[in-house]
Amino acid sequence: MVANRPIGVALLGLGNVGGGVVKLLHDNAAAIEARLGARIEVRTIVVRDPDKGQRVVDVDRSLLSTDFDRAICRDDIDIVCELMGGTTDAKRAVLAAIGAGKHVVTANKALLAEHGAEVFGAADAAGVDVYYEAAVCGGVPIIRVLREGLASDRVEALWGIVNGTSNYILSTMTESGRPFAEILKEAQALGYAEADPTLDIGGGDAAHKLAILVNLCFSMSVDVTAIAKDGIDGIDPIDLEYAEKFGYVVKPLVIARDHGHAIEARVHPALVPANWLLADVSGAKNAVYVQSYALGPSMYYGAGAGMLPTAMSVVSDIIEIGRNVFAHAAGAARPRPRPETPRRLLPLAEVRTKYYLRFGVLDKPGVLGQLMTVLGRHDVSIAQVVQAARSDGPVWVVVLTHDAKEGDVRAALAEIDTLPIVADRTRVIRIASGDPSKGAKS
Ligand code: HSE
Repeated sequence: MVANRPIGVALLGLGNVGGGVVKLLHDNAAAIEARLGARIEVRTIVVRDPDKGQRVVDVDRSLLSTDFDRAICRDDIDIVCELMGGTTDAKRAVLAAIGAGKHVVTANKALLAEHGAEVFGAADAAGVDVYYEAAVCGGVPIIRVLREGLASDRVEALWGIVNGTSNYILSTMTESGRPFAEILKEAQALGYAEADPTLDIGGGDAAHKLAILVNLCFSMSVDVTAIAKDGIDGIDPIDLEYAEKFGYVVKPLVIARDHGHAIEARVHPALVPANWLLADVSGAKNAVYVQSYALGPSMYYGAGAGMLPTAMSVVSDIIEIGRNVFAHAAGAARPRPRPETPRRLLPLAEVRTKYYLRFGVLDKPGVLGQLMTVLGRHDVSIAQVVQAARSDGPVWVVVLTHDAKEGDVRAALAEIDTLPIVADRTRVIRIASGDPSKGAKS
């Protein structure tokens, strides 16, 4: 028996995710009502153009409005779902909703990564909830895992594939050998890519998600612009081939690690050992591999984008807030643990990892010796070397290093790239290493 009053929702945005929320609330209405003990009613939907012809779902025209200030202030609205994207109007809408005493659900990673402190500070002051499961990895409930499931644990490190578009592009390039631009168009048509796909390809979208994860795992606000990031646009098909020959797969990774005094956080494509579970995360799928003190390794995998997976996270957040409302726990001050001593972001130059280096050099006696001498002088130790002839000029020399400091590697390459024997700028891809070997496929 349903005992509670309905929960009133305002949707800001009726794109792919907003449409998915309407569809899921309709398709799963009975189960949702049973789990919450109340109906969830979408009472108003704010859109840019109410007369737009084609929508992802049919909605009652009388629900549509263009005035988000009015929608937010309605007395019959408990929860405002911000699904507009962007950071200017979205920030204004979210802060206005909080100011009006409404709880907020948002899927907006850029908003939280760039203005999270302001949004959560305003929510604490107003005594309202802000939930954001859909902001990271779409339908994969990684926020809930880190906030609730691992509440008694301590995250030591994580490795994640959190941008479906980049993963789709690299996976498809690896499988088909087809060119980057053609595969990007496909990802856009499939609805994985952001409106501005440079955010996907350049690592900006992943950096936003990593900033949110770092905040949850290490109780630390990071300036998202300070997170080191490389996009996937510098990856050539030949690097994917070499990676495979050496026993690796190239994946778009986010990496975060607790060093005690500092937190390491970086976004870049990486050679992932083929025997890691993350190496099998292909297409547009997302996954986060977490190494924590008590649980050890655990991995969370699924659809990181798409209409229903993302809508599922939004509606689950609505249900959770609804439960809080009925338990009179909504907006209750939640302690935000802070480390005893503030920690800094580890500068990229201090990060230690292994490297894949591809040199384009003249095929002459002594060339290898010169490369190795410079690397050695900068404390970069070699694990493997192969040389391959090219039909179109200089040869490729591909080197895998042992663990080295990023600053040393960059200093060595700055020197190498000025040598007369070097015909092409050296290509660098970091190699993922560390604890996921414990979670390797058997
Ligand atoms: N553009 C994002 C991706 C969508 O490709 O993963 C979900 O944030």
